[in-house]
Amino acid sequence: MSAPQTRIANLTDLLHAAARGRKTLLPNHPKILVGMASCGLAAGADEVYQAIREETSRLQLPYVVAPTGCIGWCSQEPLVDVRLPHKPRVTYGRMDVPKARELVRGLCDGDLKTQWAIGLLTGHDNPVTRTRIRYSQPSARVDGVPRYEDLELFRRQIRLVTRNCGVIDPADLDEYIARAGYLALHWALTGMRPEEIINEVTRSGLRGRGGAGFPTGKKWEVMRRQPAKPKYIVCNADEGDPGAYMDRAVLEGDPHSVLEGMTIGAYAMGASDGVIYVREEYPLAVKRMLEAIAQAEAAGLLGDNLFHSGFSFHIRVVKGAGAFVCGEETALITSVEGRVGEPRQRPPYPAQRGLGGKPTCINNVETWANIPVILMRGGDWYAHLGTGDSRGTKVFCLVGAVKNPTLIEVPMGITLRQIVYDIGGGIPQGRKFKAIQTGGPSGGCLPESLLDLEVDYESLTQAGAIMGSGGMIVMDSSTCMVDLARYFLTFLADESCGKCFSCRKGLQRMRQIVTRITEGLGSEGDLELIEDLGWMVRETSLCGLGQTAPNPVLSTLRYFRDEYLAHVREKRCPAKVCKELITYRIEPTLCDGCGACVRVCTSQAILGEKKKVHTIDNAKCIKCGSCLEVCQPQAVLVE
Ligand SMILES: Cc1cc2nc3c(=O)[nH]c(=O)nc-3n(C[C@H](O)[C@H](O)[C@H](O)COP(=O)(O)O)c2cc1C
Repeated sequence: MSAPQTRIANLTDLLHAAARGRKTLLPNHPKILVGMASCGLAAGADEVYQAIREETSRLQLPYVVAPTGCIGWCSQEPLVDVRLPHKPRVTYGRMDVPKARELVRGLCDGDLKTQWAIGLLTGHDNPVTRTRIRYSQPSARVDGVPRYEDLELFRRQIRLVTRNCGVIDPADLDEYIARAGYLALHWALTGMRPEEIINEVTRSGLRGRGGAGFPTGKKWEVMRRQPAKPKYIVCNADEGDPGAYMDRAVLEGDPHSVLEGMTIGAYAMGASDGVIYVREEYPLAVKRMLEAIAQAEAAGLLGDNLFHSGFSFHIRVVKGAGAFVCGEETALITSVEGRVGEPRQRPPYPAQRGLGGKPTCINNVETWANIPVILMRGGDWYAHLGTGDSRGTKVFCLVGAVKNPTLIEVPMGITLRQIVYDIGGGIPQGRKFKAIQTGGPSGGCLPESLLDLEVDYESLTQAGAIMGSGGMIVMDSSTCMVDLARYFLTFLADESCGKCFSCRKGLQRMRQIVTRITEGLGSEGDLELIEDLGWMVRETSLCGLGQTAPNPVLSTLRYFRDEYLAHVREKRCPAKVCKELITYRIEPTLCDGCGACVRVCTSQAILGEKKKVHTIDNAKCIKCGSCLEVCQPQAVLVE
């Protein structure tokens, strides 16, 4: 842990802190890292971490045992990385407490337990300085363990925003500084004029990563020109999309990168105070940010007269109660002000009139975390990544029907196919790809014929989807697109703040009609009706929630109309998902009477004696699918 009392007032102090940080980052000492972002913790990383600490202490091993952020292989959590001097860094997946203890005992005897190893790294690049921490010779190998460089999952990724996640201990300021942290801030405050910084951001082509994709340099320029004082900076860490955890991973794994980006932005735009608006449901992210703010303040990297430049900046954390609409920037402002989070008409934009009526620049977590890299490497370098008007990289949460669901960072312009098949490993269980939903709950669903689409703001919008903040859900043949549209409509209708009649009532009505279709009660006229309603909600809503909420329905109607027609014409759900349109049956020739289905059926709908053929009482069956899951001989059929 860095010593909080160590003040950093100039370049020499920064270099001293970096030297301290390098002691635990460089491969001189044995080190065990445990991935302890939420993805790891959800899988039991905390217990694994404690077990490793206990075992190393019991055996008196001189190992540094430290937490780190998301290592980037979420499907294999809990993840443990072992780094022995002059050896590659070995990653172990799906660890549990007994395995963790055995691993430590094995290491004592020089046994690397390669049977649990899933990958090895010979070094870590630092995109900020173009340097590499070398753990071992580039050619080093461990029998049977693939190198990260050879794994499709990592080969296509470029980790700028997530550069330190899985590398540093997020609670260690010195380790962040050892990865060139706060160097960009020092550079900005001691050698750059605000206009030069904004110019660099504009040249980078960076667009806001929170969803709308507004050019960041342009927003900063508008804000800089505002004469009113004080000015505020806000980091939007509300992240309410189901299945998305990009921002959470950055806050938990590399909190100082966000603080550094915000402080640079504040200097460039003349702001004096900052707010990190983060949802209450992200306790670890809140803890990490509070910890990082306290460290930065104690070190003199936040507060008054930073690097003797005369520039002062303060940041506080405001917790949101978890309403999706509070991520919308004008609703966010009212929430920070202590009022009900409701959007308002723009203009004036927050950069003109925001918090307390003063100019306020709101940017997303990922946008802020990009800033130190852009300043260190230059806007032109950043702009060479990507395509068209979408430059740089984007962090996505690749989830759903892929073999490797995980957090990824890829250059803009990569195709959906490369993401799903090369990085995601394709569709598991021999099923067929059906659709990919990009952009969170108000994104669109794209079919297989669009898999070669390049991922950029314009292409996705033209295809009826959106970039959004980075949620990406892959669906296979077992997903019903009508049911999916119903799910997202339900989420958005519940999250609508209700201020606009069209959004409030329009989404409720659309949900009713789509639900009716999933129940087999729809008619062909319903399809036109929801399409019309969708366009009306889109055109007449005040904020982005209503303007994009119809996307899942409109895109599924556009690309999967046949599936809607099967529901309304034939009263059939082709994916066999919609409960009112399916029945469960036990095939007598396959049933071996094992009784597994009887034990899991909570509605006592399965009849039959042990070792005899079972049957399902359809009057009692609630179609939960539990019997289907446990039936070994696959005798339960859905028809
Ligand atoms: C309903 C709704 C929810 C939103 N949620 C978020 C969010 O969680 N995080 C975020 O950064 N932007 C969110 N946005 C976008 C913000 O309004 C705003 O555009 C963004 O914070 C600006 O930062 P950026 O330019 O860096 O993207 C949301 C927008 C809407 C309409």
